[in-house]
Amino acid sequence: MSKRRVVVTGGAGFIGSRVCALLVAEGYAVRVLDNLYRADPRVVAEQRQHPDMEFVEGDIRYRGTVDAALEGAEGVVHLAALCINKSVADPAESLDVNLRGSEHVFAAAVRARVRRLVFASSASVYGEPERLPMREDDVLRPQTPYCIAKRAGEDLLEFYRTRHGLASNALRFFNVYGPGQKTDAYYTSVIQVFLRRIVAGEAPVIDGDGSQSMDFVHVDDVARAAVMAYTSAASGLVLNVGTGIDTSIAELAKMLVAATGRALEPQFRPRKTLVTRRAADISRIRAALGWEPLVAVAPGIHALARTFLAELGALP
Ligand SMILES: NC(=O)c1ccc[n+]([C@@H]2O[C@H](COP(=O)([O-])OP(=O)(O)OC[C@H]3O[C@@H](n4cnc5c(N)ncnc54)[C@H](O)[C@@H]3O)[C@@H](O)[C@H]2O)c1
Repeated sequence: MSKRRVVVTGGAGFIGSRVCALLVAEGYAVRVLDNLYRADPRVVAEQRQHPDMEFVEGDIRYRGTVDAALEGAEGVVHLAALCINKSVADPAESLDVNLRGSEHVFAAAVRARVRRLVFASSASVYGEPERLPMREDDVLRPQTPYCIAKRAGEDLLEFYRTRHGLASNALRFFNVYGPGQKTDAYYTSVIQVFLRRIVAGEAPVIDGDGSQSMDFVHVDDVARAAVMAYTSAASGLVLNVGTGIDTSIAELAKMLVAATGRALEPQFRPRKTLVTRRAADISRIRAALGWEPLVAVAPGIHALARTFLAELGALP
């Protein structure tokens, strides 16, 4: 019997490559749809050769491309998107990919009569939270075209679910980190900025008092959440994917210095900063999918720092 096929848009990206590998491990065949805009060439080469993966180079901005890619698919994990930085610089392009592109994927999924679809939304739909932890029903105040498109994408998905019977779930990823993360990632790039300084023998520099925080969630946990949202029978859910722990920038700097074994003290640059904080309430995803983060923040950040040093040949 042939394997059930899942199409993963953006499947050659940071999160997508993990989702594809997990789906294959669960016994699915995977078809990646990615336009190579930000894909890792090593990942693409591996995917092209994998017996259970098929790589389709194509752009979700083209309806016909998406329809062709979904032919014969059992379901879809929709991850292709342009990142936040890009959305501020070019709102039109961002909406074109992140909103119109998503509409193409949802509509094609209905036409292909897929079993279900998982949509990657983002914690950035919340904007500035009024309180922590952030709950799915909190007021949303998206602040950039990227976040606006993610929020609209959730609403659009709900339209396709209720009007066209598309079984689906949306996941609000928090600050995803792990090996292979992009150096220009909007939030988590601070990890690499600090690590580069530490490796050069310089202390990480923190703006303000370092109390701004993020909910760092490991990419392997995020990929597992996406696959669980796909295999579950639940539908119509919007779920936070984080650890529930807000880690301040000051704590992060200390963890990174400790992991590298360098005798450095983080420095504080007095500066008026907008203190933003992030922590997900994850009770809904726990109850709905039985998902729990398995990688605790401190060991996850420690391992990432060690991987970074090893790649540079700079392990102590
Ligand atoms: N990384 C995070 O911290 C984070 C947080 C919240 C939400 N998300 C969301 O998760 C998803 C995956 O993020 P990621 O970090 O893996 O990003 P990524 O940039 O590593 O991966 C995105 C992939 O989509 C592809 N792509 C971009 N535009 C495309 C297009 N028009 N057609 C086809 N493919 C296209 C890129 O080539 C890339 O391989 C995105 O939807 C993102 O918005 C990520």
